[in-house]
Amino acid sequence: MPHRPYVIDQMISAKAISARVEALSHEITAHFKGTNKLIVVGLLRGSFVFIADLVRELDLPVEVDFLEASSYGDAMSSSREVRILKDLRGEIAGRDVLVVEDIVDTGFTLSHVVRLLKSREPKRLEVCVLLDKPSRREVDIKATWTGFQIPDEFVVGYGIDFAQRNRNLPYIGKVRFTD
Ligand code: IMP
Ligand code: MG
Repeated sequence: MPHRPYVIDQMISAKAISARVEALSHEITAHFKGTNKLIVVGLLRGSFVFIADLVRELDLPVEVDFLEASSYGDAMSSSREVRILKDLRGEIAGRDVLVVEDIVDTGFTLSHVVRLLKSREPKRLEVCVLLDKPSRREVDIKATWTGFQIPDEFVVGYGIDFAQRNRNLPYIGKVRFTD
């Protein structure tokens, strides 16, 4: 649906996001305290803003790596097929891993990625997601840390896109079609 007109209604302000990111980072820092082996793995592209803010609040030595997974299908719904488009640059065997994702929706993407990374035998693997739409879940997967639970709305901003647009909004808003 390339050109349907829409507006964006703010759902979570930049201030609320920043307060939540700070709280999450304290919990994550406490959880991994003492590690010198933490790799923060961002799932491209939607997590790039979240991961940038999160790692700057972590009081831990961290490395950052990225993985790109893609599901087929139209722009507003996930398909069940997940492909790895770009793999990690580094090894994670024996390391502490924090997977950072923008949204968990049906759960197919995250469960695929977690299964793949666990097969590489990290020492510990935890997951931090910014947004969770629990009403849409089809695969039983739960993040260790969740920023916000949201209703079944299509959202954009703070790294999250609609057909590659609106990633640069500082807040999270829901897409409302006006036609
Ligand atoms: P899942 O495999 O259905 O859990 O899909 C998760 C992925 O779908 C996320 O990483 C997002 O890229 C995308 N996604 C899910 N909901 C939204 C949304 O409301 N806006 C933009 N992308 C979304
Ligand atoms: Mg994504």
